[in-house]
Amino acid sequence: MSFTAITILGGRGMLGSDLAAVAAGRGLSVRVYDLPEFDVTDEAQVEEVVSQSEVVINCAAYTNVEKAESHVELANQVNGYAVGRLGLIASGLNVPVVHISTDFVFDGATHAPYRETDATNPLSVYGGSKLLGETLLVESGCDHCIVRIQWTYGRHGTHFISKITEAAKTRDVLTVVDDQVGSPTHTAEIAKVVIDLLEMGSFPAGIYHCAASGYASRYEMTRYLFEQLGIATKVQPCKTSDFKTAARRPLNSRFDCTKLQTLLGRAMLSWQDMLKNYLETL
Ligand SMILES: NC(=O)c1ccc[n+]([C@@H]2O[C@H](COP(=O)([O-])OP(=O)(O)OC[C@H]3O[C@@H](n4cnc5c(N)ncnc54)[C@H](OP(=O)(O)O)[C@@H]3O)[C@@H](O)[C@H]2O)c1
Repeated sequence: MSFTAITILGGRGMLGSDLAAVAAGRGLSVRVYDLPEFDVTDEAQVEEVVSQSEVVINCAAYTNVEKAESHVELANQVNGYAVGRLGLIASGLNVPVVHISTDFVFDGATHAPYRETDATNPLSVYGGSKLLGETLLVESGCDHCIVRIQWTYGRHGTHFISKITEAAKTRDVLTVVDDQVGSPTHTAEIAKVVIDLLEMGSFPAGIYHCAASGYASRYEMTRYLFEQLGIATKVQPCKTSDFKTAARRPLNSRFDCTKLQTLLGRAMLSWQDMLKNYLETL
């Protein structure tokens, strides 16, 4: 199965924008749908869009992890039930769905990188709503590919890297947690992987973990970032428990990406090279 056109829901968000650019660059016809004119919780709108699609990539999501703690219903509707309905509609119309999910489906309590088959146990409302979406999509019976991503940054969004760089402008010292570990990953590189998957010939059904190679704590990542940018602000390590946040976050967000690497025949760049390349584009 090779595609000539892709439909991106949530296509003006951070990942969706990069997906649209990469797909267009590969000569694919791209249709983008997003708020305010398209709402993924509107069944009739979803039906109309899916009926005109060869393949749907769902990036639409309620992504404010902190606010989700007090907006449980909205998070579950957008990240959970809407994904289930999308799956049922896609199943009826025989349209495959690529759905983007997250490391927040895990509790981060293990000490090894997470594999796709590991038990889920979300700590937050956001994580629970994303797991609900995964579950309902699988149950819908549509052809689906779930790509779990984590610690992303990109040109079209606000993220850890943009926030910490901004904070450094007014601070001599910043404290950053050293007990959350993951792989900072550029959304443009995730976009290349997703389009590679769609260009493989047969639809890559199943769940895949997708992240830059290598791991770092938030503290290590910040030090590397400041070194690259020549920022003099001092970085001091602290613990997640030092900060009071509404949502709990997994400490271990590391992914084992062997399944994806085997399918694609390549690993993603190291998180350091990826970050360096990204900074050069700014
Ligand atoms: N950012 C991360 O670190 C990260 C990590 C792991 C997984 N993910 C997942 O990656 C995917 C893409 O997220 P992102 O980082 O690109 O976030 P994003 O920039 O917030 O993109 C999400 C997009 O979905 C739109 N949206 C929200 N509610 C919608 C609705 N009801 N109907 C239609 N569109 C709606 C948003 O519009 P508005 O901006 O107008 O709300 C936004 O354009 C999501 O599935 C997210 O859960 C992200």
